[in-house]
Amino acid sequence: HQSRRPDYSELYELMTRASDYYQEQLKAAPDAPRVINYLKQRGLDGQTCKQFGIGFAPRGWDNLQNLLATSDEKEEQLIKTGMLVENEESKNRYDRFRDRVMFPIRDSRGRIIAFGGRVLGDAKPKYLNSPESPIFHKGRELYGLYEAKKSNRSLERILVVEGYMDVVTLAQLGINNAVATLGTATTLEHMQRLFKTVPEVVFCFDGDDAGRRAAWRALESTLPNMQDGRQARFLFLPQGEDPDSMVRQEGSEQFLQRIQDQALSLDTFLFKELEDGLDLHTMDGRARLTKLAQPYLSKLPDGIFKQLLLQKLSELTGLDSSRLEAHLSTEAEQKT
Ligand code: UTP
Ligand code: MN
Ligand code: MN
Ligand code: MN
Ligand code: MN
Repeated sequence: HQSRRPDYSELYELMTRASDYYQEQLKAAPDAPRVINYLKQRGLDGQTCKQFGIGFAPRGWDNLQNLLATSDEKEEQLIKTGMLVENEESKNRYDRFRDRVMFPIRDSRGRIIAFGGRVLGDAKPKYLNSPESPIFHKGRELYGLYEAKKSNRSLERILVVEGYMDVVTLAQLGINNAVATLGTATTLEHMQRLFKTVPEVVFCFDGDDAGRRAAWRALESTLPNMQDGRQARFLFLPQGEDPDSMVRQEGSEQFLQRIQDQALSLDTFLFKELEDGLDLHTMDGRARLTKLAQPYLSKLPDGIFKQLLLQKLSELTGLDSSRLEAHLSTEAEQKT
Protein backbone atom coordinates (compact mmCIF):
# COMPACT_ATOMS: atom_id res chain seq x y z
CA HIS A 1 0.00 0.00 0.00
CA GLN A 2 1.51 3.30 -1.09
CA SER A 3 1.32 6.28 1.21
CA ARG A 4 -0.73 9.04 -0.32
CA ARG A 5 1.04 12.29 -0.85
CA PRO A 6 -0.84 15.51 -1.30
CA ASP A 7 -1.05 16.48 -4.94
CA TYR A 8 0.74 19.76 -5.52
CA SER A 9 0.80 19.55 -9.30
CA GLU A 10 -1.36 22.66 -9.65
CA LEU A 11 1.07 24.63 -7.48
CA TYR A 12 3.99 23.58 -9.66
CA GLU A 13 2.03 24.48 -12.75
CA LEU A 14 1.30 27.98 -11.46
CA MET A 15 4.98 28.50 -10.69
CA THR A 16 5.89 27.48 -14.23
CA ARG A 17 3.34 29.87 -15.66
CA ALA A 18 4.61 32.67 -13.45
CA SER A 19 8.15 31.99 -14.61
CA ASP A 20 7.07 31.97 -18.28
CA TYR A 21 5.38 35.30 -17.71
CA TYR A 22 8.47 36.83 -16.05
CA GLN A 23 10.67 35.63 -18.89
CA GLU A 24 8.32 37.12 -21.49
CA GLN A 25 8.40 40.42 -19.63
CA LEU A 26 12.14 40.55 -20.15
CA LYS A 27 11.17 41.33 -23.74
CA ALA A 28 7.68 42.76 -23.53
CA ALA A 29 7.57 45.03 -20.48
CA PRO A 30 7.85 48.78 -21.09
CA ASP A 31 10.79 48.61 -18.69
CA ALA A 32 12.50 45.78 -20.55
CA PRO A 33 15.39 47.88 -21.90
CA ARG A 34 16.26 49.07 -18.41
CA VAL A 35 16.29 45.46 -17.17
CA ILE A 36 18.31 44.13 -20.09
CA ASN A 37 20.74 46.93 -19.48
CA TYR A 38 21.05 45.98 -15.84
CA LEU A 39 21.68 42.32 -16.68
CA LYS A 40 24.26 43.31 -19.29
CA GLN A 41 25.97 45.59 -16.87
CA ARG A 42 26.24 42.63 -14.50
CA GLY A 43 27.91 40.68 -17.26
CA LEU A 44 25.12 38.25 -18.12
CA ASP A 45 24.29 37.33 -21.69
CA GLY A 46 21.02 36.02 -23.12
CA GLN A 47 22.11 32.43 -23.04
CA THR A 48 22.94 32.48 -19.35
CA CYS A 49 19.64 34.21 -18.58
CA LYS A 50 17.87 31.47 -20.49
CA GLN A 51 19.86 28.71 -18.77
CA PHE A 52 18.68 29.99 -15.40
CA GLY A 53 15.25 31.16 -16.55
CA ILE A 54 15.94 34.69 -15.38
CA GLY A 55 13.00 37.04 -15.89
CA PHE A 56 11.44 40.29 -14.80
CA ALA A 57 8.43 41.08 -12.62
CA PRO A 58 7.13 44.43 -13.84
CA ARG A 59 5.85 47.28 -11.71
CA GLY A 60 2.23 47.13 -10.57
CA TRP A 61 0.33 45.38 -7.81
CA ASP A 62 -1.76 42.93 -9.77
CA ASN A 63 -0.05 41.80 -12.98
CA LEU A 64 0.39 38.23 -11.89
CA GLN A 65 -2.91 38.18 -10.06
CA ASN A 66 -4.82 39.25 -13.17
CA LEU A 67 -3.03 36.70 -15.28
CA LEU A 68 -3.14 33.64 -13.04
CA ALA A 69 -5.87 34.09 -10.38
CA THR A 70 -8.57 32.97 -12.78
CA SER A 71 -10.65 31.33 -10.04
CA ASP A 72 -10.93 31.48 -6.26
CA GLU A 73 -9.12 28.17 -6.10
CA LYS A 74 -6.23 29.45 -8.21
CA GLU A 75 -6.04 32.58 -6.09
CA GLU A 76 -5.74 30.47 -2.92
CA GLN A 77 -3.00 28.45 -4.57
CA LEU A 78 -1.13 31.63 -5.46
CA ILE A 79 -1.32 32.70 -1.83
CA LYS A 80 -0.08 29.29 -0.71
CA THR A 81 3.05 29.60 -2.82
CA GLY A 82 3.57 33.20 -1.69
CA MET A 83 3.21 34.66 -5.18
CA LEU A 84 0.32 36.72 -3.83
CA VAL A 85 0.42 38.37 -0.44
CA GLU A 86 -2.66 39.00 1.66
CA ASN A 87 -2.79 42.16 3.73
CA GLU A 88 -3.72 41.09 7.25
CA GLU A 89 -6.12 43.95 7.95
CA SER A 90 -7.67 44.85 4.63
CA LYS A 91 -7.47 41.30 3.25
CA ASN A 92 -6.32 42.90 0.02
CA ARG A 93 -4.25 40.62 -2.16
CA TYR A 94 -1.36 41.77 -4.28
CA ASP A 95 1.68 40.53 -6.22
CA ARG A 96 4.65 39.83 -3.96
CA PHE A 97 7.25 40.50 -6.66
CA ARG A 98 7.18 43.91 -8.32
CA ASP A 99 9.84 45.63 -10.36
CA ARG A 100 12.45 42.96 -9.69
CA VAL A 101 14.77 40.71 -11.65
CA MET A 102 13.44 37.21 -11.06
CA PHE A 103 15.47 34.07 -10.38
CA PRO A 104 13.40 30.88 -10.41
CA ILE A 105 14.46 28.27 -7.87
CA ARG A 106 14.14 24.66 -9.02
CA ASP A 107 14.02 21.44 -7.06
CA SER A 108 16.19 18.46 -7.95
CA ARG A 109 13.66 17.39 -10.60
CA GLY A 110 13.72 20.80 -12.24
CA ARG A 111 10.31 21.93 -11.06
CA ILE A 112 10.05 25.59 -10.15
CA ILE A 113 9.25 25.82 -6.45
CA ALA A 114 10.08 29.43 -5.51
CA PHE A 115 11.60 32.69 -6.71
CA GLY A 116 14.18 35.19 -5.62
CA GLY A 117 13.72 38.73 -6.86
CA ARG A 118 16.39 41.44 -6.95
CA VAL A 119 15.75 45.16 -7.10
CA LEU A 120 17.45 46.91 -10.00
CA GLY A 121 18.80 49.68 -7.84
CA ASP A 122 19.78 50.09 -4.20
CA ALA A 123 16.34 49.78 -2.57
CA LYS A 124 15.84 47.48 0.40
CA PRO A 125 15.39 44.62 0.71
CA LYS A 126 17.88 43.87 -2.05
CA TYR A 127 16.49 40.36 -2.51
CA LEU A 128 12.98 39.20 -1.81
CA ASN A 129 12.42 35.46 -1.64
CA SER A 130 9.37 33.23 -1.74
CA PRO A 131 8.30 32.16 1.75
CA GLU A 132 8.28 28.53 2.87
CA SER A 133 5.39 26.74 1.23
CA PRO A 134 4.17 23.19 0.72
CA ILE A 135 6.56 22.93 -2.24
CA PHE A 136 9.46 25.04 -0.93
CA HIS A 137 11.61 24.24 2.10
CA LYS A 138 14.59 26.56 2.34
CA GLY A 139 16.68 24.29 4.52
CA ARG A 140 16.54 21.59 1.89
CA GLU A 141 16.90 23.32 -1.45
CA LEU A 142 20.01 24.64 -3.15
CA TYR A 143 19.80 27.23 -5.87
CA GLY A 144 21.53 26.05 -9.04
CA LEU A 145 21.85 22.37 -8.16
CA TYR A 146 19.48 21.28 -10.90
CA GLU A 147 21.24 23.50 -13.46
CA ALA A 148 24.67 22.28 -12.34
CA LYS A 149 23.68 18.65 -12.72
CA LYS A 150 22.09 19.36 -16.05
CA SER A 151 25.22 20.97 -17.45
CA ASN A 152 27.47 18.15 -16.23
CA ARG A 153 26.19 14.67 -15.57
CA SER A 154 29.40 13.51 -13.94
CA LEU A 155 30.04 16.28 -11.42
CA GLU A 156 33.04 15.67 -9.18
CA ARG A 157 32.84 18.72 -7.00
CA ILE A 158 30.41 21.48 -6.08
CA LEU A 159 31.09 25.04 -4.97
CA VAL A 160 28.74 26.39 -2.34
CA VAL A 161 28.26 30.15 -2.49
CA GLU A 162 25.88 32.61 -0.85
CA GLY A 163 24.04 34.29 -3.65
CA TYR A 164 22.07 33.93 -6.84
CA MET A 165 24.43 36.23 -8.70
CA ASP A 166 27.45 34.23 -7.57
CA VAL A 167 25.99 31.07 -9.10
CA VAL A 168 24.93 32.78 -12.31
CA THR A 169 28.12 34.76 -12.92
CA LEU A 170 30.29 31.71 -12.28
CA ALA A 171 28.20 29.84 -14.87
CA GLN A 172 28.47 32.73 -17.29
CA LEU A 173 32.25 32.40 -17.03
CA GLY A 174 32.24 28.64 -17.51
CA ILE A 175 32.17 27.44 -13.90
CA ASN A 176 28.94 25.49 -13.92
CA ASN A 177 29.15 23.69 -10.61
CA ALA A 178 28.13 26.34 -8.08
CA VAL A 179 25.05 26.25 -5.88
CA ALA A 180 23.74 28.73 -3.32
CA THR A 181 22.06 28.31 0.02
CA LEU A 182 19.01 30.51 -0.07
CA GLY A 183 19.75 33.27 2.39
CA THR A 184 19.91 30.68 5.16
CA ALA A 185 22.69 28.82 6.91
CA THR A 186 23.95 25.60 5.35
CA THR A 187 21.96 22.79 6.93
CA LEU A 188 22.62 19.11 7.58
CA GLU A 189 20.10 18.36 4.86
CA HIS A 190 21.96 20.52 2.37
CA MET A 191 25.15 18.62 3.13
CA GLN A 192 23.49 15.22 2.86
CA ARG A 193 22.12 16.19 -0.51
CA LEU A 194 25.45 17.58 -1.74
CA PHE A 195 27.49 14.58 -0.65
CA LYS A 196 24.97 12.30 -2.32
CA THR A 197 25.84 14.12 -5.53
CA VAL A 198 29.61 14.68 -5.26
CA PRO A 199 32.51 13.60 -3.01
CA GLU A 200 33.98 17.10 -2.74
CA VAL A 201 32.41 20.35 -1.61
CA VAL A 202 34.17 23.73 -1.60
CA PHE A 203 32.58 26.52 0.40
CA CYS A 204 33.20 29.96 -0.97
CA PHE A 205 31.28 32.60 0.89
CA ASP A 206 31.63 36.37 0.81
CA GLY A 207 34.76 38.02 2.17
CA ASP A 208 32.98 39.71 5.06
CA ASP A 209 31.93 38.91 8.64
CA ALA A 210 28.66 37.34 7.51
CA GLY A 211 30.56 35.13 5.08
CA ARG A 212 32.99 33.98 7.75
CA ARG A 213 30.13 33.17 10.12
CA ALA A 214 28.42 31.29 7.29
CA ALA A 215 31.58 29.24 6.76
CA TRP A 216 31.67 28.20 10.41
CA ARG A 217 28.00 27.20 10.31
CA ALA A 218 28.71 25.22 7.16
CA LEU A 219 31.53 23.43 8.95
CA GLU A 220 29.17 22.45 11.75
CA SER A 221 26.71 21.00 9.26
CA THR A 222 29.50 19.21 7.42
CA LEU A 223 31.10 17.40 10.38
CA PRO A 224 28.35 14.76 10.83
CA ASN A 225 28.52 14.13 7.10
CA MET A 226 32.29 13.58 6.89
CA GLN A 227 32.30 9.92 6.03
CA ASP A 228 35.65 8.68 4.75
CA GLY A 229 36.18 9.55 1.11
CA ARG A 230 34.41 12.85 1.36
CA GLN A 231 36.21 16.15 1.25
CA ALA A 232 35.21 19.65 2.32
CA ARG A 233 37.28 22.78 1.78
CA PHE A 234 36.86 26.43 2.62
CA LEU A 235 37.96 29.29 0.44
CA PHE A 236 38.14 32.73 2.05
CA LEU A 237 37.99 35.67 -0.34
CA PRO A 238 39.65 39.04 0.19
CA GLN A 239 37.63 41.51 2.25
CA GLY A 240 34.71 42.95 0.30
CA GLU A 241 34.76 40.38 -2.51
CA ASP A 242 32.24 37.70 -3.32
CA PRO A 243 32.56 34.93 -5.93
CA ASP A 244 30.70 37.11 -8.45
CA SER A 245 33.00 40.11 -8.11
CA MET A 246 36.10 37.93 -7.75
CA VAL A 247 35.62 35.81 -10.84
CA ARG A 248 34.71 38.82 -12.96
CA GLN A 249 37.84 40.56 -11.77
CA GLU A 250 40.34 37.75 -12.24
CA GLY A 251 38.66 35.36 -14.69
CA SER A 252 37.70 31.74 -14.20
CA GLU A 253 41.15 30.24 -14.61
CA GLN A 254 42.62 32.36 -11.83
CA PHE A 255 39.58 31.74 -9.69
CA LEU A 256 39.94 27.96 -10.01
CA GLN A 257 43.64 28.31 -9.29
CA ARG A 258 42.75 30.29 -6.18
CA ILE A 259 40.65 27.37 -4.97
CA GLN A 260 43.49 25.01 -5.70
CA ASP A 261 46.07 27.11 -3.86
CA GLN A 262 44.14 28.72 -1.05
CA ALA A 263 41.14 26.64 -0.01
CA LEU A 264 41.66 25.34 3.52
CA SER A 265 40.96 21.73 4.39
CA LEU A 266 38.29 21.15 7.01
CA ASP A 267 40.82 20.20 9.67
CA THR A 268 42.98 23.25 8.95
CA PHE A 269 39.99 25.58 9.20
CA LEU A 270 38.69 23.86 12.33
CA PHE A 271 41.93 24.02 14.27
CA LYS A 272 42.78 27.50 13.03
CA GLU A 273 39.54 28.77 14.52
CA LEU A 274 39.77 26.74 17.72
CA GLU A 275 43.39 27.75 18.37
CA ASP A 276 42.61 31.39 17.82
CA GLY A 277 43.69 33.33 20.92
CA LEU A 278 45.14 30.28 22.66
CA ASP A 279 48.78 29.83 23.59
CA LEU A 280 49.62 26.19 22.98
CA HIS A 281 52.95 26.66 24.76
CA THR A 282 51.02 26.75 27.98
CA MET A 283 49.31 23.86 29.66
CA ASP A 284 46.02 25.67 30.10
CA GLY A 285 46.09 26.66 26.41
CA ARG A 286 46.39 23.00 25.47
CA ALA A 287 43.71 21.98 27.97
CA ARG A 288 41.44 24.63 26.60
CA LEU A 289 41.98 23.49 23.02
CA THR A 290 41.12 19.93 24.02
CA LYS A 291 37.95 21.09 25.68
CA LEU A 292 36.95 23.30 22.74
CA ALA A 293 37.63 20.62 20.14
CA GLN A 294 35.62 17.92 21.84
CA PRO A 295 32.09 18.86 20.77
CA TYR A 296 33.28 19.14 17.17
CA LEU A 297 35.20 15.91 17.11
CA SER A 298 32.30 14.05 18.66
CA LYS A 299 30.08 15.14 15.78
CA LEU A 300 32.24 13.20 13.32
CA PRO A 301 31.13 9.75 12.23
CA ASP A 302 33.53 6.98 13.24
CA GLY A 303 36.20 6.37 10.65
CA ILE A 304 39.71 7.12 9.55
CA PHE A 305 39.08 10.84 9.26
CA LYS A 306 38.02 11.05 12.88
CA GLN A 307 41.08 9.04 13.91
CA LEU A 308 43.32 11.43 12.01
CA LEU A 309 41.75 14.46 13.62
CA LEU A 310 42.20 12.90 17.05
CA GLN A 311 45.81 12.31 16.16
CA LYS A 312 46.20 15.93 15.13
CA LEU A 313 44.71 17.08 18.41
CA SER A 314 47.03 14.71 20.19
CA GLU A 315 50.04 16.23 18.43
CA LEU A 316 48.91 19.74 19.30
CA THR A 317 48.26 18.98 22.96
CA GLY A 318 50.73 16.23 23.73
CA LEU A 319 47.90 14.08 25.02
CA ASP A 320 47.69 10.43 24.04
CA SER A 321 45.16 10.03 21.23
CA SER A 322 43.52 6.93 22.68
CA ARG A 323 43.11 8.81 25.95
CA LEU A 324 41.53 11.65 24.02
CA GLU A 325 39.15 9.26 22.36
CA ALA A 326 38.19 7.62 25.64
CA HIS A 327 37.60 11.05 27.11
CA LEU A 328 35.47 11.98 24.12
CA SER A 329 33.16 9.02 24.54
CA THR A 330 32.74 9.53 28.31
CA GLU A 331 31.82 13.16 27.67
CA ALA A 332 29.31 12.03 25.05
CA GLU A 333 27.81 9.50 27.47
CA GLN A 334 27.47 12.07 30.20
CA LYS A 335 25.47 14.22 27.85
CA THR A 336 22.94 11.53 26.92
P1 UTP B 1 24.52 39.40 -0.66
O1 UTP B 1 24.12 40.61 0.09
O2 UTP B 1 25.92 38.96 -0.58
O3 UTP B 1 24.01 39.60 -2.12
O4 UTP B 1 23.54 38.24 -0.21
P2 UTP B 1 24.69 39.34 -3.51
O5 UTP B 1 24.21 38.01 -4.00
O6 UTP B 1 26.13 39.56 -3.48
O7 UTP B 1 23.91 40.44 -4.32
P3 UTP B 1 24.34 41.34 -5.50
O8 UTP B 1 25.65 40.86 -6.03
O9 UTP B 1 24.40 42.71 -4.94
O10 UTP B 1 23.22 41.17 -6.46
C1 UTP B 1 23.78 36.90 -0.58
C2 UTP B 1 22.47 36.17 -0.72
O11 UTP B 1 21.70 36.32 0.47
C3 UTP B 1 20.32 36.40 0.17
C4 UTP B 1 20.22 36.20 -1.32
O12 UTP B 1 20.03 34.82 -1.59
C5 UTP B 1 21.55 36.70 -1.80
O13 UTP B 1 21.87 36.22 -3.10
N1 UTP B 1 19.75 37.71 0.51
C6 UTP B 1 20.51 38.84 0.54
C7 UTP B 1 18.40 37.82 0.75
O14 UTP B 1 17.70 36.81 0.71
N2 UTP B 1 17.85 39.05 1.00
C8 UTP B 1 18.60 40.18 1.01
O15 UTP B 1 18.05 41.28 1.22
C9 UTP B 1 19.96 40.07 0.80
MN1 MN C 1 6.74 22.54 5.43
MN1 MN D 1 27.40 39.32 1.63
MN1 MN E 1 27.49 38.68 -2.05
MN1 MN F 1 27.37 40.12 -5.11
